[in-house]
Amino acid sequence: MLRVENLSSSYKTIDGDVHVLNNVNFTVNDNEIFGIAGESGCGKTTLLNSLYDIIEYPLVVDSGRVVLEGTKNGNHFSYATGEIRKTWWNNISYVPQAAQSVLNPIVRVKTQFLDSIPKEDRKKETPAQTLERVALYLKELSLSPDVLEAYPFQLSGGMRQRAIIALATFMAPNLVLADEPTTALDVVVQKGILMMLMRLQKQLKNSLIIVSHDMGVHYQITNRMAIMYSGSIAELGPTEAIFNDPIHPYTTMLVGALPRVGEDIQRVGIAGRPPALKNPPPGCRFAPRCPRATDRCRKEVPEFREVRPGRFAACHLLNE
Ligand SMILES: Nc1ncnc2c1ncn2[C@@H]1O[C@H](COP(=O)(O)OP(=O)(O)OP(=O)(O)O)[C@@H](O)[C@H]1O
Ligand SMILES: [Mg+2]
Repeated sequence: MLRVENLSSSYKTIDGDVHVLNNVNFTVNDNEIFGIAGESGCGKTTLLNSLYDIIEYPLVVDSGRVVLEGTKNGNHFSYATGEIRKTWWNNISYVPQAAQSVLNPIVRVKTQFLDSIPKEDRKKETPAQTLERVALYLKELSLSPDVLEAYPFQLSGGMRQRAIIALATFMAPNLVLADEPTTALDVVVQKGILMMLMRLQKQLKNSLIIVSHDMGVHYQITNRMAIMYSGSIAELGPTEAIFNDPIHPYTTMLVGALPRVGEDIQRVGIAGRPPALKNPPPGCRFAPRCPRATDRCRKEVPEFREVRPGRFAACHLLNE
């Protein structure tokens, strides 16, 4: 479905370039929920923007590319970086971070639906007929079609998020990107949004990339996941393996920091902070925080490679 090949992106700033993504490589399969986790500022949103082709100044793709490929209604499609925006909504859609603020608060939801559905898809329908289809779709998602008449400011945060997810999935795209879709919502609403995303993925049999700094979200809904650290993928593999048998010391620490039901021990967080992207340390960027770092780790950048079938990691310690 999606192939990310050696992707490196940076921001051009007046103080020089900030290299955010460094040689990111991964694939997302058909019919899977793929998670991306990592601390704030590690480049998750930059990665999604690069995947979705929102490559606008000051963001620049320095090297590599993204290929979106698959079949829809029996037709094969293939788009690479620079072309992906041609197929927005149809083959790929995006629920951006803080999506709740994406809807224009003073434009009725129905108008925003009509504006987002490409003209080709509306064929010979009148707007009323298109809205009828939208209303049916909302009902399928257990959403009242009344939201169409509402102004976004009249809806709760959870409702707005649901409306945006409905909008992003209405055209049954092959791949949906969702950036922190549950952040800033209370726990009960979070759960509802996750259930909605899972149900939609099952129904559409498409692929979903969900970005969240919350490991609990990944545990609940993803099939495979990537752990990002300072602009690179530290580890990638089946979610179950990531939680039960982590390879990278950073993953071990992330997973170890999670509370578990029935345990009464104090969990420790990860000491220190991720490095500034402006002047990253040489070698492995996690080395300054890694309890097992060696001299080699502080000098040489570890290669991201398949360590075991389906399990990828970038760590020198695996060779020892
Ligand atoms: N427009 C910009 N110009 C310069 N630097 C930027 C810009 N946008 C983001 N950055 C920097 O790029 C890095 C990655 O940011 P990004 O938003 O991708 O991180 P993130 O993992 O999504 O964080 P969060 O979890 O807080 O959403 C950060 O250090 C950020 O300061
Ligand atoms: Mg972000």
